[in-house]
Amino acid sequence: MNHSPSDDSSMPVASRKIFVSLDTTARSRGSDKVATQVESVLNAQPELAATLVRNGSRGMFWLEPLLEINTPKGRVAYGPVKAEDVNDIINLQCFDDATEHPLCLGLTEELPWFKSQQRLTFARVGIIDPIDVDDYISHGGFVGLTNAFAKTAQQLVDEVKESGLRGRGGAAFPTGIKWQTVLNEPEQQKYIVCNADEGDSGTFADRMLMEGDPLVLVEGMIIAGLSVGADQGYIYLRSEYPQAHDLLNKAISNAKAAGYLGDNICGTEHNFHLEVRLGAGAYICGEETSLLESLEGKRGLVRAKPPLPAIEGLFGQPTVVNNVISLASVPYILSHGGDSYRDFGMGRSRGTLPIQLAGNIAQGGLVELAFGISLNELLQQYGNGCKSKRAMRSVQVGGPLGAYLPAEQWDTALDYEEFASIGAVLGHGGIVVFDDTVDMAAQARFAMEFCEVESCGKCTPCRIGAVRGVEVIDKIIDGNNDEQQRQDSVDLLHDLCDTMEFGSLCAMGGMTPFPVRSALKYFPDDFLPQPSTQKAQ
Ligand SMILES: Cc1cc2nc3c(=O)[nH]c(=O)nc-3n(C[C@H](O)[C@H](O)[C@H](O)COP(=O)(O)O)c2cc1C
Ligand code: SF4
Repeated sequence: MNHSPSDDSSMPVASRKIFVSLDTTARSRGSDKVATQVESVLNAQPELAATLVRNGSRGMFWLEPLLEINTPKGRVAYGPVKAEDVNDIINLQCFDDATEHPLCLGLTEELPWFKSQQRLTFARVGIIDPIDVDDYISHGGFVGLTNAFAKTAQQLVDEVKESGLRGRGGAAFPTGIKWQTVLNEPEQQKYIVCNADEGDSGTFADRMLMEGDPLVLVEGMIIAGLSVGADQGYIYLRSEYPQAHDLLNKAISNAKAAGYLGDNICGTEHNFHLEVRLGAGAYICGEETSLLESLEGKRGLVRAKPPLPAIEGLFGQPTVVNNVISLASVPYILSHGGDSYRDFGMGRSRGTLPIQLAGNIAQGGLVELAFGISLNELLQQYGNGCKSKRAMRSVQVGGPLGAYLPAEQWDTALDYEEFASIGAVLGHGGIVVFDDTVDMAAQARFAMEFCEVESCGKCTPCRIGAVRGVEVIDKIIDGNNDEQQRQDSVDLLHDLCDTMEFGSLCAMGGMTPFPVRSALKYFPDDFLPQPSTQKAQ
């Protein structure tokens, strides 16, 4: 699609901007080279009087590096751009002139993929300069916090309850109820801990948010602090996210300089301090109690519950532990009202979910939509089928502990309860796609192997069960075994899955049976004996 951005009015010189993303995915596709080239063109042609802005990604990863130029009609997108395209794009476009550059996609926000989304939490991602407090404020930032100052702690918790927000980290626990538990505790010292460990395969919503609009997370954490009476927050950040680390620290420092963090924030009697802590590099450190141990400087071992972290959390004090997206959804709720957020969604799944399309998918990226859309719509309308152009065979939803779903289940609506009814989970909203070359026995084996490697080792069903699980799957697919031996191994695998599901201390061991059982149930032929015992290895 070509778009002609000509208009009666010219772009005021002071507003001329070129946007190239600094998001990790965009950078991995070459956006830094594009940005360097933009700078050199602008330096060579000072008469253009334009500035380069490194923004977050719009989430259309197959179009990265995306270059956008603001015009009187809105931002015009070009992509995927190479450094050698930059000179032509800038000089043909010239901010208010008609152009037909072959990489021109038209107005970014008119692209159907983008326009049909409901971007509440990601409203500013890909639009603002991520660490610029003034830019944040000029796009509606800190309105929620300003409203929060006028409310009591109980009113704030009630507003979050009213919104119907449920935790986006995976367990979908109602955020308002968690906050109420912490508010009710009498202790003086309470904490807000943001779980930014984002370990699920195929997920990147937390990273994109922290790289594209870190101040919305900062604002959400301050509001959480006001709501429960906590004056200290920690962001436990996945150590593999250096770009998010850098941007979060800069955003925190800028927010502090602007009076939004520290003592007597915004001239009120409230204090809120915020620090980033790097994670220990283990999947289990994303589990909230293991995370708290790690944050206290110990090995990431899961704690038995009760006591809940809301009652005895960080350093034994009442603690809110929430996922990045849960906390980043709160400013919208406080600025637009809990009922406005609740208007989106279906059933008990209210609001929007940032859905991450990954794996073998033609149009991978992030789509924020109200709950209720079907997997089919996502995979075809947004994902545009497999990248390999082969038939799609299976999708795993909800990270490495999520079920593998066959085509007959892709009409399921994205809704926590609908997914539970088919033995699946939505988790953190990650969808990983596989084409018809996938070996589902190998995927089941991988699930057990993943658990074996990532188990914290505290309880037997998980620590030992996962090791035995790998062995039993190998026996099932071993072509040297007769049918009776194979059937015995299948029965044993089911028994083992029961033991892990019902006997594990946490969901690591408890949910590993989800991918294993679903692979066995929906793709039984892949478990038939193979000529080589090496098949799934
Ligand atoms: C093995 C395991 C790994 C987890 N990893 C993460 C993670 O990376 N990020 C996250 O937010 N929640 C993760 N969780 C869920 C957290 O334990 C917890 O439910 C969540 O941080 C609560 O926040 P929420 O209510 O906002 O979702 C994990 C849980 C388990 C069992
Ligand atoms: S289920 Fe696994 S990860 Fe969870 S406590 Fe037990 S051994 Fe640790």
